[in-house]
Amino acid sequence: MLVQTPTTRPFAVVTGASSGIGLELAKQFAAGGYDVLVAAEDEAVHDVPAQLAGTVTAEVLRTDLSTREGVEELWRVATAGGRAVDAVALHAGVGVSGTFVDTDLEDELQMVRLNVDAVVRLAKHATRHMVGRGEGRMLFTSSLAARVPAPHQAVYGASKAFVQSFAQALRQEVEGAGVVVTTFLPGPTDTEFFDRAGAQDTAMGQTSLKDDPAKVAKQAFAALQKGRDHVVTGSLATKVQGAVANLLPNKLTAKGQGKLAEPGSGD
Ligand SMILES: NC(=O)c1ccc[n+]([C@@H]2O[C@H](COP(=O)([O-])OP(=O)(O)OC[C@H]3O[C@@H](n4cnc5c(N)ncnc54)[C@H](OP(=O)(O)O)[C@@H]3O)[C@@H](O)[C@H]2O)c1
Repeated sequence: MLVQTPTTRPFAVVTGASSGIGLELAKQFAAGGYDVLVAAEDEAVHDVPAQLAGTVTAEVLRTDLSTREGVEELWRVATAGGRAVDAVALHAGVGVSGTFVDTDLEDELQMVRLNVDAVVRLAKHATRHMVGRGEGRMLFTSSLAARVPAPHQAVYGASKAFVQSFAQALRQEVEGAGVVVTTFLPGPTDTEFFDRAGAQDTAMGQTSLKDDPAKVAKQAFAALQKGRDHVVTGSLATKVQGAVANLLPNKLTAKGQGKLAEPGSGD
């Protein structure tokens, strides 16, 4: 892969692109003809360019996006030399599983820094940049957990409800300025997410019915390209779950969600 050669192709930034859905999103942007800047925290992000098809250029940045410095560095690299950013996928995120009385506060606050603070910080840069140019696309990774209270992932669920609300409000503000904001809501998807969240012993973590991250990313990218408001990604069953979550009272959905995410429920 070439690095930092100016091209006439559109340019996209993808955060959390080293594995799972984010890696598949990077593949979608590359296959769609975008040059990409992929960002993640660990060494594995350097393996991403070799996995992208096509003739696009791919740059890599290893940075901790849960910090102010990490997001500022990402934006500095993205816009180096006055480069225009055509699309941003604000995807990097983690979960913390467990019952709130037991979970570690610092783990949860660290998650909020990544899932919420970093998203707002990066979105601020991207919004000003794109509104200034009169065009651009932002793809926010939400979750079905944004639609229902999420017992045993209470802070995680709230972080995704924040992203969903924030992005949909932002969409209204910027649509007259030529900027598209799309959210996608995955259900359980087969990635490292559950291991990282400490949810291996839950029914949700152990289900064999998880969605394919490649399919999820394909649907998310298509929704962004079509300028859609949001999309529930994955299988038909996940989409039905998303629709039903909108209809049932929170009290009921919280019970169902809580059973699936309860520690030990998978044993
Ligand atoms: N999988 C699901 O069931 C599911 C369902 C709904 C929503 N989501 C959303 O999808 C995202 C997680 O993606 P995934 O499921 O594909 O999980 P994943 O494979 O664990 O990917 C998480 C990505 O985020 C990056 N990341 C984590 N901490 C970071 C940090 N401090 N700085 C920079 N990058 C960081 C990881 O990079 P490193 O490895 O370098 O840390 C990795 O690239 C989250 O936003 C989550 O809310 C997932």
